[in-house]
Amino acid sequence: MKKMKLDMNNNQIPSNLKQNQMFVKIAIGLILMWLAYHFYFSSSIQISPVVEADDDHRLPSSPPPVVANLTLSGEIPVNNTSIHEDEGSMECDVFTGEWVRDPTGPRYTNRSCNTIEHHQNCMKNGRPDSDYFYWRWSPVDCDLPAFDPKLFLEFMRKKSMAFIGDSITRNHVEEAVEVYHDDEYRSRRWFFGSHNFSLSVIWSPFLTKAKIFEDNDGHSSGAIELHLDELNSVWVDEFSNFDYIMIAGGKWFLKTAVYYENNTIIGCHNCNKANLSEVVLDYAYRKALHTTLDFITRSNHKVYAFFRTTTPDHFENGEWNTGGYCNRTVPFKDGEIDMRDIDTIMRDIELEEFANAKAATNGSVLRLFDTTRLSLLRPDGHPGPYRAFHPLDGKIGNAEVQNDCLHWCLPGPIDSWNDLMMNLLVRGERI
Ligand SMILES: *[C@@H]1O[C@H](CO)[C@@H](O)[C@H](O)[C@H]1NC(C)=O
Ligand SMILES: *[C@@H]1O[C@H](CO)[C@@H](O)[C@H](O)[C@H]1NC(C)=O
Ligand SMILES: *[C@@H]1O[C@H](CO)[C@@H](O)[C@H](O)[C@H]1NC(C)=O
Ligand SMILES: *[C@@H]1O[C@H](CO)[C@@H](O)[C@H](O)[C@H]1NC(C)=O
Ligand SMILES: *[C@@H]1O[C@H](CO)[C@@H](O)[C@H](O)[C@H]1NC(C)=O
Ligand SMILES: *[C@@H]1O[C@H](CO)[C@@H](O)[C@H](O)[C@H]1NC(C)=O
Ligand SMILES: *[C@@H]1O[C@H](CO)[C@@H](O)[C@H](O)[C@H]1NC(C)=O
Ligand SMILES: *[C@@H]1O[C@H](CO)[C@@H](O)[C@H](O)[C@H]1NC(C)=O
Ligand SMILES: *[C@@H]1O[C@H](CO)[C@@H](O)[C@H](O)[C@H]1NC(C)=O
Repeated sequence: MKKMKLDMNNNQIPSNLKQNQMFVKIAIGLILMWLAYHFYFSSSIQISPVVEADDDHRLPSSPPPVVANLTLSGEIPVNNTSIHEDEGSMECDVFTGEWVRDPTGPRYTNRSCNTIEHHQNCMKNGRPDSDYFYWRWSPVDCDLPAFDPKLFLEFMRKKSMAFIGDSITRNHVEEAVEVYHDDEYRSRRWFFGSHNFSLSVIWSPFLTKAKIFEDNDGHSSGAIELHLDELNSVWVDEFSNFDYIMIAGGKWFLKTAVYYENNTIIGCHNCNKANLSEVVLDYAYRKALHTTLDFITRSNHKVYAFFRTTTPDHFENGEWNTGGYCNRTVPFKDGEIDMRDIDTIMRDIELEEFANAKAATNGSVLRLFDTTRLSLLRPDGHPGPYRAFHPLDGKIGNAEVQNDCLHWCLPGPIDSWNDLMMNLLVRGERI
């Protein structure tokens, strides 16, 4: 349990498991994928997120409950009825709350949205239970209106937004024009012509400069060389083009890596090499986040930056590579689950570095996107074996089926992240 999970170098990867790539490519990009579908969905087909029913998954086709209407006045969507708090007053902490039953169900299905990456397409892959669709995040102190793609696009008119971090976005989005992708489809950009809005995902799992010797399937051919005090140019070079960013560190820092500062090796994490001193992950994570946030706060380019906290996985009775699984079908209630040490460590570092950076902002907006706890409460939202198409067909029991208890089913719990993002965007600080 205390052992760091996902801490993989090649030696630990059983060569017969080709599917392992998913564990090294983490979930940040999911929110983007979700947005992408939603735009695909909203700009091409319909605005109101009415879902289709099909025989296997009878989903209610009634419109979603409108908690409150967010309205637009010019470019600034402010309305006191829906936006509880405004600047100056005590802000509602939308991240403190609970998962409550919501009969509305998913806002899209594997049928209405054809761009779900297959590892997350639990619906299509045959996951039998569907209870996990029927929950919504409910903050204690305020209502959380559902993400409204039309409002979001209006808000983002003539703006540019980027999701920066690790990502697994490899979908084709046809309606929004894809204007760029790298060779592996890990960094991508779409353009929403109707609103002159561009949306990017930039793959930079460490945020800082790193040499990664790993193929697309996650097979490593050498220890990562990670510079803790130099940023990755892949996002820094574009930084001044963005009005909004969502940035996050995360689970890649658990991996074996040789750490550099000032272009000099300072040690290594998990290398077990006699001539390299062990450097703890805490140090590296803190240093890399500091380098990143420091750059943002000191930059002359003013940006609105969300900083997302770590999201726990839910492997039980084993880890990803030792038979761990996640077959729960309902969320945890408060008090039913404690955070694991590694998540606590990473989160504490994130909160401290965020607070330091926040105090140093000068013109930019820095906001915490605190997904740790609400993710912790959703052991039911992972693909488990249903990362593959009908994985149990012809198999007896769970043996030899690779479980994914780290990424999230789509539709699934992280659809609520968009509600949260929208909510933070429209109230409180602005650039
Ligand atoms: C929200 O706006 C729609 C029209 O845009 C209107 O039909 C509906 O009554 C409004 N709901 C509330 C709660 O104001
Ligand atoms: C919001 O309500 C306050 C009073 O409660 C009022 O002073 C303010 O002008 C309102 N703002 C908008 C944008 O309606
Ligand atoms: C909310 O916005 C509508 C129009 O956009 C306005 O008529 C109404 O007074 C606003 N409510 C508050 C409390 O500001
Ligand atoms: C959606 O999932 C259902 C099973 O839940 C399946 O029957 C259907 O073929 C899937 N649709 C698509 C377009 O993949
Ligand atoms: C689109 O937005 C950019 C800023 O992101 C602006 O420079 C450009 O003039 C806009 N184009 C149009 C046609 O509005
Ligand atoms: C980095 O290296 C330069 C010389 O190469 C040295 O002057 C500087 O003090 C070093 N900085 C740190 C933090 O070690
Ligand atoms: C550590 O030893 C290896 C050979 O065992 C050598 O290639 C490497 O350069 C050494 N690293 C340092 C920092 O001395
Ligand atoms: C989850 O799997 C374990 C081991 O196969 C089993 O004992 C348990 O009953 C399962 N729980 C659910 C909710 O299916
Ligand atoms: C804040 O930014 C302004 C201009 O962007 C600059 O003139 C000022 O020196 C900055 N303040 C600090 C404390 O860096």
